Amino acid sequence: MKKVFLNIGELLSLQAVAEKDGRKVLEEDLGILSKSAFVVDEKGLLLWLGPRNKIPKEFAKKSKEIDLKGQCVLPGFVECHTHSLFAGDRCKEFELRNQGVSYQEINARGGGIRSTMSATRKASSSDLRKLLEKRIDQFVRQGVTTLEVKTGYALDLKHELRCLKVLAEKFKIPVVSTYLGAHSLPPEFVSSQDYLQFIQDQVLPRIQKLTRRVDIFIERGFFDFDPALDYLTRAQEMGFDIAIHADQLSLCGGTDAALALAAKSADHLLQIDAESIAGLARSQVTCVLLPAADLYMKCSYPKARELIDAGARVALATDFNPGSSPTQDLSLVGVLARLEMKMTLPEVLAAYTYGAACALGLQSSRGSLVVGRRADFVVRDQSWDQSFYSVGDLAVQGCFSLGREL
Ligand code: NIG
Ligand code: FE
Repeated sequence: MKKVFLNIGELLSLQAVAEKDGRKVLEEDLGILSKSAFVVDEKGLLLWLGPRNKIPKEFAKKSKEIDLKGQCVLPGFVECHTHSLFAGDRCKEFELRNQGVSYQEINARGGGIRSTMSATRKASSSDLRKLLEKRIDQFVRQGVTTLEVKTGYALDLKHELRCLKVLAEKFKIPVVSTYLGAHSLPPEFVSSQDYLQFIQDQVLPRIQKLTRRVDIFIERGFFDFDPALDYLTRAQEMGFDIAIHADQLSLCGGTDAALALAAKSADHLLQIDAESIAGLARSQVTCVLLPAADLYMKCSYPKARELIDAGARVALATDFNPGSSPTQDLSLVGVLARLEMKMTLPEVLAAYTYGAACALGLQSSRGSLVVGRRADFVVRDQSWDQSFYSVGDLAVQGCFSLGREL
């Protein structure tokens, strides 16, 4: 049965954001419609939206009416960069880092990603699923309607396959998986080049039906530019979309690789120079900025203003993981983007919806409320201009996926 959502105080369609390809977003691009309504078809797609007194008669008939009580409706948030599938925690490492030991030093001592790897390999598939479900619930409470989750805490073939199979199961909201085998060198290998060759030859051919995305951490002490580029080129030839953890801790070619391969996204981007900014602005690569990780890593923040002013498309995400960003709080990310990266509120809203959908290649179905797209939306009991203002409170009263309340 069709559904008519009525009595919407403020509806943000972001239609013009989508038409502008998510670039140089202004307040007028949010498409704010007061006193509006929309109709969702049997498949959960948007059939019509507009002023509430203009609902076409054919839609009013034989449909279920849902009163949104004058609240504010936004496209569902797309959380496009997380490492949500892991066991254990790294609270001891957090304490160590606060006493002055660096992230790289902890990694070199066998801690960091490798310690999460040990815990994740030990956990059963059902334990991992339970942990993930709990984390999904926490994202849904904040209005997330599509979630990206990377592997990369198992690293060997057997356990990475297991993680990808868990991610391919059905969850409350669509989960987009990404294979991040190239996250860190596992203890079974001594050379990162040999390990990349192994995952290229032995893992990629076996995961083609499980995921369509591959990511890598290009960083000193992790994976170097040249072997990374060979690996990603092969992955792309095999049909995988590419995302890259790029230039987070040092400038070491991650952005160059993203541009050379027309990756879906380049993520972190803390260390990039003017040339990279110009290159990203000319490209279709979405710049995924992760300020909660920068807060926890005590780094500077990415140059969002320069990227946006140059014409780059930006997305925001939590980077939720047990090491560099142990938080799932979207409001923290948005507030940091405003406070520390000088992003405007319309830019933050677009980055967490349409921009993030672009990072996953899903902008034709998500990230804006346009006829024909998924009715994935958030209902808030505050006006749009009160969002990403208070940390810990996104005022979400309802979260809908394909027109169904979660
Ligand atoms: O995005 N940079 C690499 N990966 C994660 C950190 C993972 C971890 O420390 O467990 C990140 O920051
Ligand atoms: Fe990450």
